[in-house]
Amino acid sequence: MDDAHIIFDNVRMAFGDREVLRGLSCGFPREKISVILGGSGSGKTTVLRLIGGLVHPQSGRIIVAGDDISRLSETQMYQVREKLGMMFQGGALLDSLTIFDNLAMPLREHMNMTEAEIAAEVHQQLTAVGLSDVDDLLPGQLSGGMIKRAALARAIITKPEILLCDEPFSGLDPISVKRIEALLQRINRHLRITMLISSHHIPSTMRLADMVVLLRPDGVVCGSPAELHGSPDPHIAGFFNEEVDEAIAAEAAPAAFFPATSRWVHA
Ligand SMILES: Nc1ncnc2c1ncn2[C@@H]1O[C@H](COP(=O)(O)OP(=O)(O)OP(=O)(O)O)[C@@H](O)[C@H]1O
Ligand SMILES: [Mg+2]
Repeated sequence: MDDAHIIFDNVRMAFGDREVLRGLSCGFPREKISVILGGSGSGKTTVLRLIGGLVHPQSGRIIVAGDDISRLSETQMYQVREKLGMMFQGGALLDSLTIFDNLAMPLREHMNMTEAEIAAEVHQQLTAVGLSDVDDLLPGQLSGGMIKRAALARAIITKPEILLCDEPFSGLDPISVKRIEALLQRINRHLRITMLISSHHIPSTMRLADMVVLLRPDGVVCGSPAELHGSPDPHIAGFFNEEVDEAIAAEAAPAAFFPATSRWVHA
């Protein structure tokens, strides 16, 4: 794909005997929002961790912003990571640091900025995600939605080209979900960041995604939400029509539901 910012080329990933990806090939378009959907344990977090170079595939290539990261040394990988913002499931903020210090940390580590400049930047990002008067609070003193917003602010504070968000909607009430959605959309449009979001949340996916990668036990399907919604396969279309327990739905779907059309790639 010409405009792909991240490319998976026949990536195989296994943990011991547990094969998670069996040759995943897909491109994630530049400056667009891609959503990775799939049941629990289908490999959504693993896809994001592969891009960050936190785990390494058994075979295949992963190209991030033009670099084949499977060939890079740890030092070279460090430079690629500077292009990435990561908002990881659960572990995004350090519990022992205040919200201010959590946001300031990547600036202190990676940017040549004075403390006054850092404070201004932290407050600008907190305001952008709708948080105020939280400088001295610890993550444990924030609500779930506020933690997600703080984590998002932290992930974008170094102005990455690519933002990886692992389950930004999990555990949130519908209003907080909409709020995070709006934030992600605004960040995508204004900062022109390429986004990869892993999610179980189908209504959000339908609203947000330019592209969807659906990880299923028997294969992977990629396409726009409209393409998947309009799929002639009732089980694919049905997946997008209602919010189902994907893990159960995925287990229940027999291989016959995955016809070998050009949009289907076996993983
Ligand atoms: N570091 C690891 N060591 C061993 N197995 C792992 C490791 N990371 C992931 N796995 C396994 O790989 C599979 C995919 O895990 P992954 O976390 O990517 O799933 P997921 O789609 O993100 O699930 P969830 O929706 O529950 O977050 C699981 O079976 C998991 O147990
Ligand atoms: Mg996960």
